[in-house]
Amino acid sequence: MKIHQAEFVISNTDPAKCPKPDRPEYAFIGRSNVGKSSLINRLVQRPDLAKTSGKPGKTQLINHFKINDLKGETPWYLVDLPGFGFAKVPKSIREQFASIITGYLTSRSNLQCIFVLIDMRIPPQKIDLDFMTRLGEQELPFAMVFTKTEKIKSGGRQLALDAYREAMAEIFDTFPLYFVTSAISGEGRDEILDYIDELNGEWTLNPTIKKV
Ligand code: GTP
Ligand code: MG
Repeated sequence: MKIHQAEFVISNTDPAKCPKPDRPEYAFIGRSNVGKSSLINRLVQRPDLAKTSGKPGKTQLINHFKINDLKGETPWYLVDLPGFGFAKVPKSIREQFASIITGYLTSRSNLQCIFVLIDMRIPPQKIDLDFMTRLGEQELPFAMVFTKTEKIKSGGRQLALDAYREAMAEIFDTFPLYFVTSAISGEGRDEILDYIDELNGEWTLNPTIKKV
């Protein structure tokens, strides 16, 4: 899929004020500083669309971007969210972010896939595993997205994947769909966009809004 348009729509903390759920939506979620905003920018090839920072806790709101809202295209929403669980982010802020994320996840009936970003350079973290466990329990569709992978040698990737396979096997019967990405090199961009295109096609065929 080609991105012909990417535009900021609205930021807020209240899911009720998010745009009407009348088109497919894809959210980027993960620990603070994992690279959510950077990957969004890479997907749409706009380095400054979502605000990024080396300091964790940069994204503080639910940010909706509309993509390909043009005649003859399937329009969709891309959503950048605050991160969770970074120890250096003050506890009160972490709690506030967690409540924004939960409110968002439990209210968007048009959410086609939650992309759960995971830093592939570090071993499986309980907080990420717990988060995916909750998504599984709530039957929310998600895929794993490994980030910052240009920093890892190819042998290291296999080791990291093996560690995740082992950790996830304790929770899930099958290993979820996953993408290996880098906002720096652009690896994984085409694969994610192709997957979104596939899900957009299903939406176009059957645009019924799921009850959450
Ligand atoms: P919060 O909004 O604070 O939750 O963070 P975020 O998950 O949106 O992360 P952000 O995109 O702001 O990136 C955090 C830091 O990681 C920045 O210094 C980025 O330059 C860096 N970064 C993001 N993606 C990559 C990547 O693919 N490779 C490398 N090496 N660094 C990356
Ligand atoms: Mg961010």
